[in-house]
Amino acid sequence: MGEPKRIAVLASGGGSNFQSLVDHFNSEDVDRGGRVVGVVASRDTAGVLDRAANEGVASAVAPAAADSDGMAAFLLEQLDAWGADFVVLAGYMRLVPPEVVRAYLGRMVNIHPALLPAFGGKGMYGGRVHGAVIEAGARVSGVTIHFVDEAYDRGPILCQWPVPVLSADRPETLAARVLRVEHRVLPLAVEALARGDVRLEGDRHVEWRREWFGTEEFHQNEKLQREG
Ligand code: GRF
Repeated sequence: MGEPKRIAVLASGGGSNFQSLVDHFNSEDVDRGGRVVGVVASRDTAGVLDRAANEGVASAVAPAAADSDGMAAFLLEQLDAWGADFVVLAGYMRLVPPEVVRAYLGRMVNIHPALLPAFGGKGMYGGRVHGAVIEAGARVSGVTIHFVDEAYDRGPILCQWPVPVLSADRPETLAARVLRVEHRVLPLAVEALARGDVRLEGDRHVEWRREWFGTEEFHQNEKLQREG
């Protein structure tokens, strides 16, 4: 394994997924094939900026008033300055301009707190997702990590993990259970991407060099079976 791959994050909120990526990749004593090199926040009040400062990770704030072309220019310049090999959308609330999606096709992933294609798409974020899951009477929700294409939550799915919905669940209790699983699954999925264990072939086919999500190894490795 050569130089660790350089991972940039786009976020808008508290940044707990950013934190799980930094905890997984940026510890000095273990090589996980990647390193978080920077985070772009979509607003200057995002809690993720405090996390970045605490962790000594570079950060930038996207120009709120930028149009699509302006945002594309900003993002491409910032990601290039950080030498980003991969980009992770972790609660990023703005649409990624098509030019940026094309530049990082197969190298940009998003995490969604439900089992796409259900409960996804424009406007389906945060508590609305979990409220819709409960409203629908679903007994299982989960986490989806997918490659980013030019529409919300529609890109080819890289991996998913189930999370039980309990009869007493309210959106916030389900959100908390799903978020705990997000923190486990996202770093592993990004590590698989960084190591070339999974890649996008063409613009729709996801190829796993060695399937390990759902395998005994994965269960052993992450004790997700219990926490899910
Ligand atoms: C997560 O639930 C993620 O699935 C969704 O936005 C939330 C981000 O939370 N896309 P945080 O900012 O990482 O804590």
